[in-house]
Amino acid sequence: MRKTIIAGNWKMFKTTSEAIELANGLQRELYKLEETVDILLCPPFTALSEVSEVITGSNIKLGAQNVYWKDEGAFTGEISPLMLKDLGCAFVIIGHSERRQFFGETNESVNNKAKAALGHGLTPIICVGETLQEREAGSTFKVLEDHVQNGLKGIEESAAAAMVIAYEPVWAIGTGKTATSQQAQEAHEYIRGLLAKMYGQEAAAQVRIQYGGSVKPENISELMAQPDVDGALVGGASLKVETFAQIVKKAAEVKK
Ligand code: 13P
Repeated sequence: MRKTIIAGNWKMFKTTSEAIELANGLQRELYKLEETVDILLCPPFTALSEVSEVITGSNIKLGAQNVYWKDEGAFTGEISPLMLKDLGCAFVIIGHSERRQFFGETNESVNNKAKAALGHGLTPIICVGETLQEREAGSTFKVLEDHVQNGLKGIEESAAAAMVIAYEPVWAIGTGKTATSQQAQEAHEYIRGLLAKMYGQEAAAQVRIQYGGSVKPENISELMAQPDVDGALVGGASLKVETFAQIVKKAAEVKK
């Protein structure tokens, strides 16, 4: 059984005081939830330390939105896996489409980052997904194959089961256009098939695959009902206590 994982990617939103307020509000709403769901907050770097303090000892975990692959050194502006561990992070998002699109992230850098994260006991959430143009050209599966095979190159089977993959169709991010639950299932099933080819059925069956792209309280239940959808990576709707808490609670209700 794969444990449901619902993550809030706060992107470049929330000052430190706003982040503390949001984390406190979520903790109040979600503390009663049994540990059937991994609940994860990914604030900006500047708020990691404070959010970490707020959620320490609770059922909410901490993740970062990016990482560099070296432990330390002259890399101005970068943050190392050691630094994230030190702040209490357990997860890190890698290769988000916004990073690929605006900051030159490639499969190669995703691969370096994923290996570094795993090497330090951080769970990487590796983002994959096609643009609208790619979907319309019929190359969705080709893009997924490229992202998965090259992003995970050289990662051992023993480490693979610990990873999380996030399928985020770029055309569904921040647009209000959610992939239908069938489109999500089809992509997730395909990704699991790719993992099975790389690592065998058993390991592939353990990898959690999240869906991301305009997830909201209204569509989470249907998405979660799909056999290969193991959770969600939530952007806009994770910025308010009410909507994110509802998404977590509804996801927890869906039993598979
Ligand atoms: P939205 O939920 O705002 O569409 O963002 C999705 C996303 O990019 C999460 O990483």
